[in-house]
Amino acid sequence: HEIYFAGLSGRVPDLPMAYAELEARAAQALPPSVLSYVAGGAGDERTQRANVEAFERWGLVPRMFVGAKERDLSVDLFGMRLPSPLFLAPVGVIGLCAQDGHGDLATARASARTGVPMVASTLSVDPMETLVPELGDTPGFFQLYTPTDRDVAASLVERAEAAGFRGIVVTLDTWVTGWRPRDLSTANFPQLRGHCLANYFTDPVFRERLDKAPEDDPAAAVGLWAQLFGNPLTWEDLPWLRSLTKLPLLVKGIQHPEDARRAIDGGVDGIYCSNHGGRQANGGLPALDCLAEVVDAADGTPVLFDSGVRSGADMVKALALGATAVGVGRPYAWGLSLAGEDGVVHVLRTLLAEADLIMAVDGYPTLADLTRDALRNVG
Ligand code: FNR
Repeated sequence: HEIYFAGLSGRVPDLPMAYAELEARAAQALPPSVLSYVAGGAGDERTQRANVEAFERWGLVPRMFVGAKERDLSVDLFGMRLPSPLFLAPVGVIGLCAQDGHGDLATARASARTGVPMVASTLSVDPMETLVPELGDTPGFFQLYTPTDRDVAASLVERAEAAGFRGIVVTLDTWVTGWRPRDLSTANFPQLRGHCLANYFTDPVFRERLDKAPEDDPAAAVGLWAQLFGNPLTWEDLPWLRSLTKLPLLVKGIQHPEDARRAIDGGVDGIYCSNHGGRQANGGLPALDCLAEVVDAADGTPVLFDSGVRSGADMVKALALGATAVGVGRPYAWGLSLAGEDGVVHVLRTLLAEADLIMAVDGYPTLADLTRDALRNVG
């Protein structure tokens, strides 16, 4: 309504309202190496496209005589009441999408303004301690890429706790970088040569491992990071991971129901169903097609979901399939690229407004009303 009423006096929004235009304009705004890093996926990007197309196979069935005049999209997550079930997925190196190179800070401010929680990546351009103060009252989560050096891993988690993050998300699917032709053909890895290593360079334990401080010998520090990055964790590591924190612990990258069950048996507090936006392994199922089975296996444990969400309708569909909260990656990277903090706020508000309107028109006033009965598979 805000936009339509502004239109009566001749004002139209500066930022794109449609996802395709958002993506196209961001593609023009970004330097080619950053664009190929953000937009690219694994292999011929079939799984990445399938993530998006999977949403088309589900249709929402509206209910009448509901009078859903007021909607409540709020959700309880680990004892925190969130205004909506939307969150910002961790996007490493996203700092570089902002014109001033500090996109993590801009994202944190957008999180504060919208109440949409941010999952801050290990690979942020600015150190984690600088992000939490920008989040205001909105809870933030820290995403861990587990280094092979357990003491460095423990130090990162300890710092995240001390900084005030409210949960730890351990990403399991990226102990090695996927086969990403767009990055390979521009030799774009290690991503953007040390720009994303602030959390390592400021880490006391990591620094102890170096002969010279990263400021004095950045090449050696990047080299050590590259050696430590990428721990192919096994189930045997789960008790250790669990022991690192009393905060809610989530595992990201789960797509098989048995993995969800086993992780919950191992003490995790939340499952994060995702295929990394199709960036890691090509040839996989769309993440959406794994969601219902994972939700069933989780049996009441919260399930976060991302991969392919591009609209409010997509959000509503993932929620109807049982996701507790729904994340976006690339969409907010595009917003950041176009207009920094305001661009991220725009993308989040657009997603939320559309989701809210769909719930109004379709007669599902709360998330509890939104069950699988709201959906039909259309092949
Ligand atoms: C990611 N993703 C990611 N995940 C993670 O756990 N840690 C990270 O540092 C990153 N880095 C990252 C960089 C870029 C450029 C992208 C696009 C993605 C994956 C991310 O959290 C999420 O799973 C996907 O982005 C979701 O898919 P969509 O929304 O991009 O389709």
